Amino acid sequence: MSQSDKFAGGNRITIRPNGPLVCEGNFTLLSSDGEVLSTESELYLCRCGASKTMPFCDGSHKKIEFEEAVEFEDARAEELEDPTAPVTITCRSNAMYLIKGPVTIQSRDGRFVTTRNRGALCRCGVSEKKPFCDASHKQCGFQAD
Ligand code: FES
Repeated sequence: MSQSDKFAGGNRITIRPNGPLVCEGNFTLLSSDGEVLSTESELYLCRCGASKTMPFCDGSHKKIEFEEAVEFEDARAEELEDPTAPVTITCRSNAMYLIKGPVTIQSRDGRFVTTRNRGALCRCGVSEKKPFCDASHKQCGFQAD
């Protein structure tokens, strides 16, 4: 199966319960200053805030016993024009992941699903609106490039 066949259903971010964001598709990951960190078609991004290899998950969510059931509502769901078009994920300094491009965001069990052309996802682990950012990174003093 070719990469393009594999992701014919479009770009997808799957939220692992108590664990990372699993990004599969046509993604480019950028640092806060625009450096390309990855163009891999599968990425495991930290969402607990504790990884020593930010923005990548290094398993620290287990050590800190990160507990986050995946349940969400999204009042800002959008239709996707081309679900396979490129997506950039930018790590904002001491803040969220900024998503630009069409993506389906879903819980691993598929019970919670939304589609977005842009959005901000939590990476500090503290947002009350996970998987979305609610600006809690400012209060918790989250530090990551
Ligand atoms: S989610 Fe795995 S280290 Fe943070």
